[in-house]
Amino acid sequence: MTRRRTVTRVAVFGDPVAHSLSPAMHNAAFRATGLAWRYDKLRVPRSRLRAALRRARRKGWRGVNLTIPLKEAALPLMDRLTPEARRAGAVNTVTFEDGRMEGHSTDGEGFLRALRDAWGFRPLGGRVIVLGAGGAARSVSVALAAAGARSIVIVNRHPARARVLSRALTRAVARTAVRAVAWPAPEAWGRMLRCADLLVNATSVGLHGGPSPVPAGAIPRRLRVADLVYNPACTALVREARARGVPAVNGAGMLVHQGALAFERWTGRCAPVRIMHRALAAALARNCRSVRASQNRCQPLAQTSGLGYRKKLKGMHAV
Ligand SMILES: NC(=O)c1ccc[n+]([C@@H]2O[C@H](COP(=O)([O-])OP(=O)(O)OC[C@H]3O[C@@H](n4cnc5c(N)ncnc54)[C@H](OP(=O)(O)O)[C@@H]3O)[C@@H](O)[C@H]2O)c1
Repeated sequence: MTRRRTVTRVAVFGDPVAHSLSPAMHNAAFRATGLAWRYDKLRVPRSRLRAALRRARRKGWRGVNLTIPLKEAALPLMDRLTPEARRAGAVNTVTFEDGRMEGHSTDGEGFLRALRDAWGFRPLGGRVIVLGAGGAARSVSVALAAAGARSIVIVNRHPARARVLSRALTRAVARTAVRAVAWPAPEAWGRMLRCADLLVNATSVGLHGGPSPVPAGAIPRRLRVADLVYNPACTALVREARARGVPAVNGAGMLVHQGALAFERWTGRCAPVRIMHRALAAALARNCRSVRASQNRCQPLAQTSGLGYRKKLKGMHAV
């Protein structure tokens, strides 16, 4: 007599969620590791989040991922939060354990792992400019600061939001110098970028095509560029940076690594990261256009002295 294998369930909740490529990535990982697990995507409006989480727990699911607009809404619903989730002010991974819900944030660590993979990059002592002040900007900035970045400049279209993030960061990680700066005029980008080692685009500019948030001519050769957008794989920012010989990655590496960390929390096993990369690339190719390799291999970031950094920043318009 053959016995039916019980399938362990996980899913991503969001609203909208149809665009999510996480099922392709996770189901490929489960197949590769021989786990009888299944990952689905379910549309869950914010008002139904509590009920959906309780139902998943009651049905014996192992956990869920959360995407827009649920990451912040989940915070008060958790029995326990990891320090990363508390600092990020968001939950992107939930584990159900002994009837309790634990909220994790793997976005920030996923981002750091992606940069380590691509360039051997470690933020210790680095000067970072982050474009955007939403959820992704917060997760990435918190992780960069916790990993020892010397300074972070938050640049956002609506300056009030940049100030809120800057204050939250300063409270969370006191060692890093954090400033909120108004969105520069086109001619001011060059001066600002010359003071940085790493530029992170955490805005939705470039999503589904469209122009780069930064004038191409303003990107200095010694910068590194990380665009969190992964669809299209080659955003205008990544393309223009590479055309100038500047190392640039898109957000696919971050997406894979945040997923790999969730996989590890749920299964207790090492995630098959390469297989997840391949599955994501295939899903992107199916979904949209041709996909280029998401990683750009090059030399590790040299430690920089940063002399004159504060002096140069003085000329910028703090908000
Ligand atoms: N690779 C990954 O794993 C990963 C994970 C999470 C997010 N992401 C990507 O990161 C991006 C941000 O996501 P999020 O969750 O942080 O979104 P969010 O909370 O909605 O924040 C959006 C940000 O984009 C800015 N923005 C939107 N339109 C703009 C424009 N025309 N000009 C300048 N700034 C503009 C907003 O500025 P205002 O505050 O001024 O409106 C805000 O700072 C998205 O593209 C998302 O796909 C990638």
